[in-house]
Amino acid sequence: MRRRRIAVGLAGALLLAGAGFGLASWRPALAPGGPGPGETTPERVGRGAVLASLGYCASCHTAQGDRPYAGGRGLATPFGTIYATNITPDPETGLGRWTLAAFTRAMREGVDREGRHLYPAFPYTHYAGLTEADIAALYAFVMTREPVRQAARPNALPFPLNWRPLLAGWKLLFVREPRIPGTTAPADPRRDSEWHRGAYLAEALSHCGACHTPRNSLGAEVKAKPYAGGEADGWWAPPLDRSSPAPLAWSEDALARYLAEWDPQHGGAAGPMRPVVDAHRTVPAGEIRALAAYTASLYGAGPAGSRTGPVDRAVGTDDPALARGATIYAGACATCHESGGGVPYTTASLGHRTTLRAPDPRNLLLVLRDGVAPREHAAGPIMPGFGAALTQGQMRDLAAYLRARFSPDGPWPDLDATIRDLMRDSPGPGARAGAGG
Ligand code: HEC
Ligand code: HEC
Ligand code: HEC
Repeated sequence: MRRRRIAVGLAGALLLAGAGFGLASWRPALAPGGPGPGETTPERVGRGAVLASLGYCASCHTAQGDRPYAGGRGLATPFGTIYATNITPDPETGLGRWTLAAFTRAMREGVDREGRHLYPAFPYTHYAGLTEADIAALYAFVMTREPVRQAARPNALPFPLNWRPLLAGWKLLFVREPRIPGTTAPADPRRDSEWHRGAYLAEALSHCGACHTPRNSLGAEVKAKPYAGGEADGWWAPPLDRSSPAPLAWSEDALARYLAEWDPQHGGAAGPMRPVVDAHRTVPAGEIRALAAYTASLYGAGPAGSRTGPVDRAVGTDDPALARGATIYAGACATCHESGGGVPYTTASLGHRTTLRAPDPRNLLLVLRDGVAPREHAAGPIMPGFGAALTQGQMRDLAAYLRARFSPDGPWPDLDATIRDLMRDSPGPGARAGAGG
């Protein structure tokens, strides 16, 4: 219902915006072709590989590990599901007939070779800021992948949002010059070249703001609130500015460790941030340092939050729900989380985690439901999921206990509703309890 109302409102606004510009929305098809001479030199392909890792192309464009870049992964948005396309050089179903000019137009303007507007789930609003040389390197990389024949899945969007010309209106409303176009702007004389490199990577290629900046009701990033906290795949993406509720401040060194793998103070990524961190494993350390330098500077901007250091409060046993939560914690969690950091990849206390300071319980519940798994063939944090082991009531008691113990803020107001919502599809007693009423 809500989605329908958004859809109608959105369509109305976009039609209005687009109406006056009818013809402006039309884009020509570009002639078919492939890479020209010198456009796929090994040097370019090698640079493109690093850039593709830092642009997280594979995390959206790969649905099955054995068919890299062949598309098919669905991205859930408030408007419906949009499927990433096949960007291997297959001529029928991929980019096999795309010239560098067509690829460049897609990356800068979000228009495909045939002239159709692309949905901003493809973060071209960020890629638009890439240098010509970097776009050419990415082109060399994708055009030398193994071609895979796999047609794109149709998007699951309600009418009229599935009508692509509407996107012309969206672009007129929201697409501005990238904040940091090219390699060097915004020349900030107080900052060094590492910071500028980090700014370029974060803003243009790594599109950190696509998840960490709030979006308006039409799905565009709110430019006035950069990095004030956003959404990704149903997860809360914490603020990366002064309003961050993180119990421990994020230093440049901590960020560099977190972005490269895991930080012993803050812990590591568990949700949609995990593929970002995984992709960094093949990236030179200098690039990660640059990202960390820029991100550390963001934490100085924005409105002040109310940071208090880590909290670990005694939780009284007079509240029966909290007492039940404490018992579940002692039985299911304490071996790892009360080991004082002794069990690999655990922090000294869960009180170090931003997750327990979040404005809502989604990230905690998703971690409890699904656990944390390392990438195949890689060492990394492991936590079992409890979605099949705990009922919704047990999940609620546990979450309420963790919040009371590890956060100075009050209980989460929407805990019950969020549990019903998130545990609906979970296979265990949680789901059965929900179905039974
Ligand atoms: C956050 C997810 C996401 C990331 C990251 C991403 N893409 Fe995409 N991309 C998409 C989606 C979704 C589409 C399809 C959009 C549509 O159907 O309108 C798409 C479409 C494209 C297209 C147009 C293809 C066509 O068939 O029309 C190209 C080219 C492309 N992406 C290249 C890249 C490259 C190169 C990278 C990495 C630098 C990248 N993408 C990273 C989600 C993503
Ligand atoms: C086998 C050991 C183990 C068990 C048992 C375990 N965890 Fe974890 N947990 C981990 C590891 C490892 C991580 C990942 C830490 C990281 O990435 O920094 C983690 C992460 C977390 C996080 C942080 C997630 C985030 O994104 O902030 C929370 C909260 C958490 N666990 C709670 C629990 C609770 C509650 C239980 C019991 C129901 C539990 N864990 C059981 C090992 C365990
Ligand atoms: C696909 C969406 C997405 C992208 C892209 C992304 N993040 Fe995140 N990030 C998240 C989410 C969601 C979390 C929190 C939960 C998790 O996934 O572990 C997070 C967590 C973080 C945290 C931990 C904050 C805290 O207080 O615990 C930092 C720091 C961070 N991201 C920095 C970055 C930087 C820097 C970039 C760009 C290089 C980036 N992120 C790109 C979604 C994203």
